[in-house]
Amino acid sequence: MGRDRPFQPLRRKRFAVSEYIELYQRITGCAECSLSQGRTNAVPGEGSQNADIMFVGEGPGYYEDRDGRPFIGQAGKLLDEMLAKIGLDRQDVYVTNMVKCRPPNNRDPLPEELSACAPYLDKQIEIISPRVIVCLGRFSFSKFFPGETISKARGRPRNWNGIKVYPMYHPAAALHNPKLKPAIEKDFRNLPALIEQVNQATQDAPEPEQTPARQLSMFE
Ligand code: URA
Repeated sequence: MGRDRPFQPLRRKRFAVSEYIELYQRITGCAECSLSQGRTNAVPGEGSQNADIMFVGEGPGYYEDRDGRPFIGQAGKLLDEMLAKIGLDRQDVYVTNMVKCRPPNNRDPLPEELSACAPYLDKQIEIISPRVIVCLGRFSFSKFFPGETISKARGRPRNWNGIKVYPMYHPAAALHNPKLKPAIEKDFRNLPALIEQVNQATQDAPEPEQTPARQLSMFE
């Protein structure tokens, strides 16, 4: 990559691009819940096939719906800023949401919308196979650890099906309440050490054959 990164990626994955494309197409054509009726574009997610870190937000907002890309509005700018502070950018990670279509007026996703969309995130987790899932906000965190509050859980990694789940406040929360920003910054600063720790723990595991890195933003 020609630049210093805060940790070495494991580059361990055998990745079926066709499986990802099929999933992408299923999401963009989905009509499983009523959010599909109001969307301009579904927002499946994007990033690196070799991502060790997957960020999971809540749902697309205005700009994401307009362009079909996750976290490109104000919250996305803050996400980029914090990634940059730890030497990462979008090409190093995978970014997606709990629901792939924008809820009207950015309201919270409803339980039935979250359940209708859940199989897509499950499949993304299976395909990308991240070492760490960063939950951005309470909706994402409650998928993995229902019934707990993000304010108590944030900043402490948990084990979930062999993956570290790392809860943080949603960047939009910091935009609405600047007092939360130091907490998000702190949680981001601890992310490279967490990845390093996870990589150390797995470094002796045999690696499957490598595939060349490929970005998963668009499919020509
Ligand atoms: N907020 C989210 O949770 N996801 C986005 O993609 C944008 C804003």
